[in-house]
Amino acid sequence: MTLVWVPTAEIAAALDGLPGTPPPEVEVVVPDGTALPATAGQVEFYVPPFFPAQPAIAAIRELPKLAVVQALTAGVDRLRPEIPAGVTLCNARGVHDASTAEWVVGAMLAALREFPFFAREQAAQRWSYHFTDCLAGKTVLIVGYGSIGAAVERRLAGFEVSVLRVARTARPQGGVAPVSELSRLLPAADVVVLLAPVTAETIGMVDAAFLARMKDGALLVNAARGSLAVTGALVAEARSGRLRLALDVTDPEPLPAGHPLWDLPGVFITPHEGASTPVSVARMAAYVRDQASRFLTGQPLENVIAGSY
Ligand SMILES: NC(=O)c1ccc[n+]([C@@H]2O[C@H](COP(=O)([O-])OP(=O)(O)OC[C@H]3O[C@@H](n4cnc5c(N)ncnc54)[C@H](OP(=O)(O)O)[C@@H]3O)[C@@H](O)[C@H]2O)c1
Repeated sequence: MTLVWVPTAEIAAALDGLPGTPPPEVEVVVPDGTALPATAGQVEFYVPPFFPAQPAIAAIRELPKLAVVQALTAGVDRLRPEIPAGVTLCNARGVHDASTAEWVVGAMLAALREFPFFAREQAAQRWSYHFTDCLAGKTVLIVGYGSIGAAVERRLAGFEVSVLRVARTARPQGGVAPVSELSRLLPAADVVVLLAPVTAETIGMVDAAFLARMKDGALLVNAARGSLAVTGALVAEARSGRLRLALDVTDPEPLPAGHPLWDLPGVFITPHEGASTPVSVARMAAYVRDQASRFLTGQPLENVIAGSY
């Protein structure tokens, strides 16, 4: 018998009828800080909750038969340091592409067409007509051009924009420049989208020097992780009114009440909403089923994290 722990009833339901003789047992377990369930000693495949926090993370080290930790997210910065030697960590690359890419395009449009301003004016019942900026004609630079970055570009196809792409390593056939070209490309962009993972190289990469390379009036969209940007540098640029920001992620997160980012002009913030949609929920369940089936039938797992990503 193989025991699989999952965090929700939906995911457990998606695992109905998995292969295996005898079939695996699936338990819904969200460790809650009290003693772990008596079955902990038998768990081989563990799916922590979508936003993994303690004590669900600490539980990883309490499962002696554990073979696989399957994340429900594309970013595994919280889980990666907690994985014991010999245990395989897989992320959910691809599962959240549609939801997150849609957020990126929506945030760009909202910021450039000033939807947050008009929402405030509507709440005050004011007819505040004026010209706004727009997306058509803009150059969009995607920093961290991977699975979600490509999904953003597909969604931008009808918006009459030029797209520039940067990844860790060059992919000349796909028009993807290496990160060593980033400084040269930044001044060309009207919109800069962050979609790189958290690694030793990306933490704090969006610092005062990075922002200074951006055009006056440009829009920075962060859909990756808050720690990619130096918050003080973001505050300084937004306060001066030189740059606009659309942030799904912040550092710290949650952003506390009273933080300067909340009130600055040209800053649009959502609370890490990118992948929090019904499409992502359905795709997470289907993907966990696929991965668990692979594990149970001895096939190679997808999206195994080796090294930083
Ligand atoms: N806001 C949300 O709710 C939300 C939802 C989903 C994901 N995310 C975040 O989005 C990130 C990207 O997800 P994904 O699935 O698109 O990942 P992915 O397919 O692995 O793509 C990430 C890309 O970033 C590039 N990269 C790595 N280091 C870089 C650097 N120093 N400079 C520039 N580019 C760099 C990689 O380049 P190489 O290919 O050359 O290695 C890769 O192409 C995740 O790690 C996660 O943190 C956020």
